[in-house]
Amino acid sequence: MSCPLPGNAIERLEREHSVVVGREHVGVRGDAFAQGAPAFGAILSLVTDRIDAPLLARAPQLRIVANFAVGYDNIDVAACSARRIVVTNTPGVLTEATADLAFSLLLAAARRVAEGDRLVRRGAFAGLTPSFLLGSRVHGSTLGLVGLGRIGQAVARRARGFGMPLLYAARTRANPNVERALGAMHVPVDELFERADFVSLHCPLTPETRHLVNAGRLARMKPGAVLVNTARGACVDEAALALALRDGPLAAAGLDVFEDEPRVHPDLLALDSVVLAPHIGSADLPTRAAMAALAVDSILAVLAGRPPLHRVTE
Ligand code: 8YV
Repeated sequence: MSCPLPGNAIERLEREHSVVVGREHVGVRGDAFAQGAPAFGAILSLVTDRIDAPLLARAPQLRIVANFAVGYDNIDVAACSARRIVVTNTPGVLTEATADLAFSLLLAAARRVAEGDRLVRRGAFAGLTPSFLLGSRVHGSTLGLVGLGRIGQAVARRARGFGMPLLYAARTRANPNVERALGAMHVPVDELFERADFVSLHCPLTPETRHLVNAGRLARMKPGAVLVNTARGACVDEAALALALRDGPLAAAGLDVFEDEPRVHPDLLALDSVVLAPHIGSADLPTRAAMAALAVDSILAVLAGRPPLHRVTE
């Protein structure tokens, strides 16, 4: 295991197998992995663990990589398949928690909550004035979702409560029943950036979505628009985002993920209009415990010769 996990995941594994637990923030790059690798039948990885061919070469007995996440852009799935190593993820159980966080970033960025908090703490609240700290209007504004999978749909359900008209862009169009239930209209991605007051990303990181939010698309956004990213940092060109926030047209952004985590682009750190969260999309205890349970179930299944619940393929 890359590092300790919440819940009783380790105990369940230890009942049947011997378990090596890596150090937090070091994971599979650490000594524990290097020494144990030749004997490992399974790796339970975090999104911060790069699982690639050189790493697999050190673990000849490996049968499964269970990622503690729904996203799996940290894993070279083709290299795993070539060695008949099963790759699994943890979809479903983190949908609502991630949507909660996306919506809290949307609200906080639009209504300048973090900026206001900093201001109060430094003693700069001199009393209410009518034009003080005006933010963007949330209810009734148009929300554009890039991706309408499980998490995109969960964000859409929340947005309906705020009376927000919904646009979405996705490679595959959603089922008409889903579109109807959510009141979501499918549009080309460029049109979404032009028409939405808020854009929230809910797509996986792939070669096609890397820097999907680039200088060109940012320039076409509405004056005062807000960007929310709880997907993957590299879906956004952070340098271009910082410029679009500083010089327009964007008013604010809420980010839970970064291109080069845990580093945050210095130009973003310098801006009061960005709400920064430390990759906490799925970070509530029941969610994280459920993710750990799913990953452990997958490992126990594969090591016992049974198919896992959530297998990932190329
Ligand atoms: C994970 C995530 O909690 O699931 C994902 O893809 O990014 C988060 O929900 C986090 O990456 C821990 O591995």
